[in-house]
Amino acid sequence: NKTDNQMLVIFGASGDLTARKLVPALFNLYQGRHLPENFTVLGVSRSDLTDDDFRKKVVGQSKYLEENIKESDAAFIDRFAEKLFYEDLGKEYDTSYENLRKRIFDLDKAHGTGGNVIFYLSTPPSLYEIIAKNLADQGLNEEKRGWKRLIVEKPFGYSLASAKALNEGLHRYFKESQIYRIDHYLGKETVQNLLVTRFANSIFEPLWNRNYIHHVEITNAESGGVEKRGGYYDKSGALRDMFQNHLLQIVSLVIMEPPIGAGPDEIRNEKVKALKSLRIMRDDETLHNNTIKAQYIASVINGEKIKGYRDEEGVDPESNTETYAAIKFFVDNWRWADVPFYVRTAKRMPTKVTEVVIHFKSPHHQIFKDSGMNNKDNKLIIRIQPDEGILIKFGVKVPGQGFKVERANLDFYYSSLVENHVMEAYERLLLDAMQGDATLYARADEVEAAWEFVDPILDYWKNNKDVKTYGYSAGVWGPTNADELIEGLGMWRNPSEN
Ligand code: BG6
Repeated sequence: NKTDNQMLVIFGASGDLTARKLVPALFNLYQGRHLPENFTVLGVSRSDLTDDDFRKKVVGQSKYLEENIKESDAAFIDRFAEKLFYEDLGKEYDTSYENLRKRIFDLDKAHGTGGNVIFYLSTPPSLYEIIAKNLADQGLNEEKRGWKRLIVEKPFGYSLASAKALNEGLHRYFKESQIYRIDHYLGKETVQNLLVTRFANSIFEPLWNRNYIHHVEITNAESGGVEKRGGYYDKSGALRDMFQNHLLQIVSLVIMEPPIGAGPDEIRNEKVKALKSLRIMRDDETLHNNTIKAQYIASVINGEKIKGYRDEEGVDPESNTETYAAIKFFVDNWRWADVPFYVRTAKRMPTKVTEVVIHFKSPHHQIFKDSGMNNKDNKLIIRIQPDEGILIKFGVKVPGQGFKVERANLDFYYSSLVENHVMEAYERLLLDAMQGDATLYARADEVEAAWEFVDPILDYWKNNKDVKTYGYSAGVWGPTNADELIEGLGMWRNPSEN
């Protein structure tokens, strides 16, 4: 694909994401010769920095960049740093937009970026609309000379109503085709591979339905806690932070119908249809029976004391915000009728792992009844991270007399396939936006459909005093109460087991 000459304007440039993710991603694109001939980055934020300070902060002295550097040639790194500029936008992001326009104009003229600009909003979401408005007031949304695009970071809204209001707000100044909503999980190779596994093979899709699938289980676990983001997280919780976006994106790719082609809207139309088929839980009894929330409590792991959630910095000591959420739900359409989906996401689990497990039904007629094989156990495990790969569990005959059946694995690991650098999520997503490909970005209706499903759960958790926030010790697989959700199926799969 062609990458036009262009400028990337990052709002929130002195923040963590710019140094930790965006600049390293740009540097990798530079190393891989993916940046266009004429390319500049203009960092914008509330800090009083010079171009040079900014370059030092995100390149010269950045601990994040160091890990990425393959060509240690100082001149090469300097040439990258020289593409970076900085503009102070005042304390509230509300002044100096005229200066910003002039700066963009001057840089464009000096570096030949053709009037093409991406505005990347890595600021608190409360500023998205006002920034969009200010840009529009300066005519910076107009595509008379060169295109203009707007990338917005998550969280996209706090509820269905606020997401809708935000979409409306942005649409006042930018067209939907100019807006790119980041969900960094879509930038992960293994998430994209869900599409390829399903639709580039003929061996899975015939089984991918209620006739053969017993249930689907998705686990997203992190071993870390809320780190330094207690203030943000306490107002958000696992459902907003992970489930509404990353996990429902994974769900939509697992359940969607085959698109007619691989174009952005062909794929996204099917994802929206899929998300709209999630059965929304409306009454208290359903919500009570199908949702679990919990919080990690203090623990000692390998001799190290781990703080409980309520003791974390920035967290209300009486907080009921969930760091663990498990949801059981159904998908009301022809393909998935009556197939339960179990999805859990949590912090402070024994390990960091994300996986999708397709549990197949037992054979209709079982002739090896006493074989020792639990026939329910045909599974397809899609490892999103780490140890990215695909695993099929099936029965094989144990050599010897009779028919003793043992469970075996067919394993595929990405590491066996890939020798070259695999693009990291932000790298891939940035390059896509630079090329105008929105396939891996969430569309307005997609985001709203996801909120539509999540909203009633959040309301129920918030408004109903009987809802328990269970405790689980940091470092275990969540509260045992979550096993009640998955009743009749044994337990949640332990992702640490192969
Ligand atoms: C972010 C969440 O979107 O995703 C974080 O805000 C979470 O709380 C992170 O830790 C997980 O991303 P990954 O790529 O490490 O699984």
